[in-house]
Amino acid sequence: MSKEVVSVPAITQFNTRSEEFFPLEWYKKMLNDNPIYYHEETDCWNVFRYDDVKKVLSDHEFFSAEGNRTILEVGAKNKEGAIPEKVSISSMDPPRHHKYRSLMSAAFTPRSLKNWEPRIQQVIKNVVNNIESNTTVDIVESYASPIPSMVMADLLGVPLEDSHLFKKWVDVLFQPSNNVDQEQLEKKKQTAAKEYFQHIYPIVVRKRANPGEDIISDLLAVEVDQEKFTDDEVVRTTMLLLGAGIETTSHMISSMFYSLLYDDATLYKQLREERNLVPNTVEEMLRYRFQISKRHRTVKQDNDVLGVQLKKGDLVIAWMSAANMDEHMFERPFELDIHRKNNKRNLTFGIGPHFCLGAPLARLELNIALTAFLERFAEIRPVESFNLEDNLATSAPGQSLMRLPLQVI
Ligand code: HEM
Repeated sequence: MSKEVVSVPAITQFNTRSEEFFPLEWYKKMLNDNPIYYHEETDCWNVFRYDDVKKVLSDHEFFSAEGNRTILEVGAKNKEGAIPEKVSISSMDPPRHHKYRSLMSAAFTPRSLKNWEPRIQQVIKNVVNNIESNTTVDIVESYASPIPSMVMADLLGVPLEDSHLFKKWVDVLFQPSNNVDQEQLEKKKQTAAKEYFQHIYPIVVRKRANPGEDIISDLLAVEVDQEKFTDDEVVRTTMLLLGAGIETTSHMISSMFYSLLYDDATLYKQLREERNLVPNTVEEMLRYRFQISKRHRTVKQDNDVLGVQLKKGDLVIAWMSAANMDEHMFERPFELDIHRKNNKRNLTFGIGPHFCLGAPLARLELNIALTAFLERFAEIRPVESFNLEDNLATSAPGQSLMRLPLQVI
């Protein structure tokens, strides 16, 4: 059943793309003046403060991930594009959620992560070595965009040459429907879903007979409470993983470079001298520069756990990126501070039963991506003519950089 999509831009009313890319003024205003805000036109509640966001995301007795209204439409409406219930763990409540998440998490054990690390290192090394010194590069095209799809292709166990196809399909399948011809977009999505399915299905069948050291083989092997994934479900699970993992990680890598260029130009040199600061820098970037983290829930039963009367069926948006700016949790929240002690408590990956399954993988990718760049280039410099507003575009989760030129020395 297709869901009603609530328009987030109707709530935020940003005037420019740049404002949406980095909406600190709006968050400041909402955190101070309207921390729990009912928006009449869309008939939905919005929560901004850390403790409230945490409650909405973790308290599944009151806030359900199921429901027929959403802030993000995914997939296509044909049979290849539909994500079956069993695979749609992001819109499922415990206890069912627990069982199906366990099936999927077979592919994300700490052991797998340890095995993957050298593979990810290698993929990223190849990408960074392709960038020549003393040139101007578009970091989105040369680094932020290829890395997550190449890493996912490698970990899924499909040929690396397929990674650009993944990117192409994901871009279409998760393209937002605002301001475009709906019918045409749906057609494009259905074609992408069909192409994706036809491409991956034979690979899955081959791996059923001949398993390897990869996510597809892990998903085929796992069994929880006598339940297993069929070949068809494994194809759709990979589609979900690509959708969840590619754009988000790309967005974070490009935003991190934006920050190193424009938030604090002294950081790059400092990090080159003290590489042990990289993990905490990545956490601070996730807190400060990942501004598109938000999720919705549906009120399960009438309650006042947030201090306002919520009715069964109401939609609530939890603004995690705003919660990351809550002064009750983070001191001087509107400052970028790579030495911040508690920045790992950022809510960028969510919290509670739906906490991002790929967070350890994403963190690893981000750390390796930053370190590999620091090792290869002594300096990065901004390009004077760059204009942020002209280089942003609407992606499924919000505004993302389409281009970020920089000089590498
Ligand atoms: C910077 C990168 C990423 C960010 C910011 C991010 C963020 C999130 C958030 C906010 C949620 C949902 C929280 C909720 O509904 O309460 C989520 C769920 C999920 N993410 Fe990620 N994610 C990232 C990368 C990845 C990667 C690389 C993968 C896997 C390849 C992945 C797989 C998933 C899955 C499967 C879920 C659903 C978990 C569930 O509902 O139980 N994510 N992610």
